[in-house]
Amino acid sequence: MSDNINFVKGRGIHLYTDQQEEYIDAVSGTFNISLGYSHPELVEVLKKQVEDLIHASSSFTGDIAQDVLDDILEQAPEYITDGWMRDIIGSTANEGAIKIANKYNGKSEVVSLALSHHGQTLFTTAISGNAFRRKSFPHTITIQNGVVPAPYCYRCPYGAKGAPACGFLCAEAIYDYAKYGSSDNVSCMIIEPVLGNGGNIIPPEGYFERIKKICEELEIVLIADEVQTGIGRTGYMFASEHYDIQPDIITLAKGLGGIGIPAAAILFRSQFAVLEKFEHSYTSGGNLLSLAASKKTMEIVSREGFLQNVRENGKILGKLLHQLKEDYGYIIGDVRGIGYMWGLEIVDKDGLPDTDMTNRLIELALQDHKMILRGSRYGFGNVLKVRPTLTATQDDIEEICYRLNKLFRQLQPEFHESNRIS
Ligand SMILES: Cc1ncc(COP(=O)(O)O)c(C=O)c1O
Repeated sequence: MSDNINFVKGRGIHLYTDQQEEYIDAVSGTFNISLGYSHPELVEVLKKQVEDLIHASSSFTGDIAQDVLDDILEQAPEYITDGWMRDIIGSTANEGAIKIANKYNGKSEVVSLALSHHGQTLFTTAISGNAFRRKSFPHTITIQNGVVPAPYCYRCPYGAKGAPACGFLCAEAIYDYAKYGSSDNVSCMIIEPVLGNGGNIIPPEGYFERIKKICEELEIVLIADEVQTGIGRTGYMFASEHYDIQPDIITLAKGLGGIGIPAAAILFRSQFAVLEKFEHSYTSGGNLLSLAASKKTMEIVSREGFLQNVRENGKILGKLLHQLKEDYGYIIGDVRGIGYMWGLEIVDKDGLPDTDMTNRLIELALQDHKMILRGSRYGFGNVLKVRPTLTATQDDIEEICYRLNKLFRQLQPEFHESNRIS
């Protein structure tokens, strides 16, 4: 159905079709429109860049890239002091981070989490925590890697009743894999601070502390994949800082480009500056348009009050979504999130994941309420994601929740008819 909709213009959280119909986008594109569609300051900077110079070989743009990198590093956790601006998408930034770890410690295996998503190149598909992504590509599974349980307390893979009482069994699985499952060949662990695609899963307090200790003890390089969480999505510039993850390497993409301009970066502690240019560079990596967009985005997101606004409005968004659970609790099993990164877990009458209903909600939201939502795991999951642009106002947030309310109310009779509610 979405194939019939042609968007030709966008402003803020609004999109307009060639038929002059207005939609609201509650998920910022694919979470990459961090500053809203066609943010005027970004448009102005980009127009000028297009007129001046669109591309020069990276042999001649090093100083400009360094300048943007410095702006990003200025906002990064203090132990992160260096970086690499030769990527253009999150997948290759993650591969670059893994190359760095491999070169640094001479080991090869990667530990990732079940339900994680780190990209769609062959290698990032191989380390994905969603096996369905590998199904059609038999070669990817020949890579030796460990996928360990996710810190998914709502559906704890061990059936435990919550942290810290559980003893962080999911984190201990990492220790066991690295120590016994991999013959001491684990180079790095890659982790999303909030598992975005897997279902907006927020690890419990104490989890990251345990992960860091395990990585230190076993000399595993810790990579925070902040492709979704970075540049303000959680209300903090870096989720790594908020959750005190203390990673060795951080990867960025999506929100860095502000209005959908592809941009990516790898940040690291100084001792990880091990790559030669010829080991990880792409023709369009760190191109002038991408650098101009990244610079302006960093400037805007760093402005006084900007992230505080995301944190405060994020709380309002959370409150309104929890209210939805109060009202329609038989279908919304859990509400979780931070900043402008929220998810509603959609369940059936037995509390089991209801993927069909999740996809139906997304379809009806678009069709009847002119609102774009997304589901987890590319439609294979049961978490409805709500992630407006960081510039969304309180009015925007309320409008999104108003439409969500109408959407759930519309489906209410259906639940009764099918005896979903006893
Ligand atoms: C957490 C995470 N890492 C990496 C990627 C891959 O980024 P890209 O699509 O820019 O290659 C994504 C994309 O959705 C992502 O969500």
